Amino acid sequence: MNDLTNTARLKSSANPNGIQLPRSTSNLLEPPQQNWEVQIQKDGETPFIVIDNWYTPYEEKNVWKELDFYASQENVERAENTYVATHDDGKPKSKASRFHIQEFYTPSGRQRSHIFNNMYKIRVPEFHNMVREIKPFYRSFLSTNADSTLISYYEDSEYYESHWDDYAWTMLIWFVREPRLFDGGDFTFTDSKLKVKLKQNRALFFPSMFEHSVNPVKMHTEPKDSGYGRYTITHFFIAMPPDNVRN
Ligand SMILES: [Fe+2]
Repeated sequence: MNDLTNTARLKSSANPNGIQLPRSTSNLLEPPQQNWEVQIQKDGETPFIVIDNWYTPYEEKNVWKELDFYASQENVERAENTYVATHDDGKPKSKASRFHIQEFYTPSGRQRSHIFNNMYKIRVPEFHNMVREIKPFYRSFLSTNADSTLISYYEDSEYYESHWDDYAWTMLIWFVREPRLFDGGDFTFTDSKLKVKLKQNRALFFPSMFEHSVNPVKMHTEPKDSGYGRYTITHFFIAMPPDNVRN
């Protein structure tokens, strides 16, 4: 990724001993080994963390199945018809399909979702130690106690114009099939003009206040089936008053 500057690179191998594993992985003999490749942008105008191989190969395979299941639904929700960042005149800043998967599950039913179960990674000490390098913004992550998850799917001519998120921290996890059947769909931090290259199974984590955008996807041909565009799994994190904690 040559579009990053002042970037610390490190390899990591996390073994999240001591954390409470979700049901789907608790029957494994050992917690899954991570093979994260981490880049931390801690200086400059926009702080962020890029983690490649966010999901293990086993998790990645299961997340693909879950994404394809969502994309196979009829009457998919559209970003432009739901809660989305807007221009001053009310025009939506995004065109894309959206899946508010929290609404698909009861609280205990979340355990049926690979995407929710794999959020254990966000609670491992190694991840928190990476976030601590983003001074002073890390403080607003360590106090978060609630999350919200959204899946977006972009096909031809779909985009998200520059906006910020109404949360403390945002995690984006990108899923794209290779060989890629589209151009575009590039992610840019608006103020610094820094681009983060779109890559399969890449996570991007940043303070939600920094504006960002996705330029239009241009499919090479009409896809024969759904799922050949650009998926984003988004986890938002925020601190809620104790009486209102949601999950
Ligand atoms: Fe956003």
